[in-house]
Amino acid sequence: MFCDYVTIHSQEEMAPGIFRMVLDAPEVAREAKPGQFVNLYVNDPTKLLPRPISICEADAEKGLLTLIYAVVGKGTEAFAQYAPGTKLRLMGVLGNGFPLERAAQPEVKEIILVGGGLGIPPMLFLARKLHEMYPEKGIRMFNGFRSTPWIEEEFHPYGEVFNASDDGKSGFQGNVIDAMEYKLIFTDKDTKALLYTCGPIPMMKAIQKWQTGYNMETWFSLEERMGCGFGACAGCPAKLRMPDGSIKKEGVCKMGPVFPGEDVIFE
Ligand code: FES
Repeated sequence: MFCDYVTIHSQEEMAPGIFRMVLDAPEVAREAKPGQFVNLYVNDPTKLLPRPISICEADAEKGLLTLIYAVVGKGTEAFAQYAPGTKLRLMGVLGNGFPLERAAQPEVKEIILVGGGLGIPPMLFLARKLHEMYPEKGIRMFNGFRSTPWIEEEFHPYGEVFNASDDGKSGFQGNVIDAMEYKLIFTDKDTKALLYTCGPIPMMKAIQKWQTGYNMETWFSLEERMGCGFGACAGCPAKLRMPDGSIKKEGVCKMGPVFPGEDVIFE
């Protein structure tokens, strides 16, 4: 696994407190899969724990890795101050990623991506890859924001994009489930939908409940739960149904962050 210094190629504030950082990281960009994450360290030896950040895009040809993060504490505050050219230590890639091959099932006619808040950026990499691999399958993307959207255009080449926001400043006023109820059309019972999602736990909990009425296979990324990203903080247990039917608590950073939707037990 790669663990070395990479250079900031560019950095911009996309919306108040939300930053897009592009890194020159050819080895990582080549290896990365949608749904995986990297651990980024601040340049301060007193802060030992890295910040796990999901991969928003990976350009293997140019060797660029795009990360989108929100300033939520001292670590991300420090990231936001770094200028292009700064070197940062990065460990990755980490995590299992979304199973893209599930979209190959012939009965899957519709692919649905649902992102909420900072769970939206990893959906961009996923949308591009799915579009490249399965151009014949329709992709619909539902992105939930608090208010004004801070990412949208980037998704347009890959399918239909619908926004939802709490205050109606972006697309539907309501949540992503309201938007899906309005926009999804299931024409026959032999059609199966495949849904990948990443976002706040209450959103995914609601999706899990909602989807029982449909012929739908779901995959949830629980990355919101993560602290250190590499098994050191014990801060990321999720309750999961095991293949033998037993229930166990497992670390999201080690076992996930992506799990079959029906195996996740939300409390
Ligand atoms: Fe720290 Fe998993 S995120 S142990």
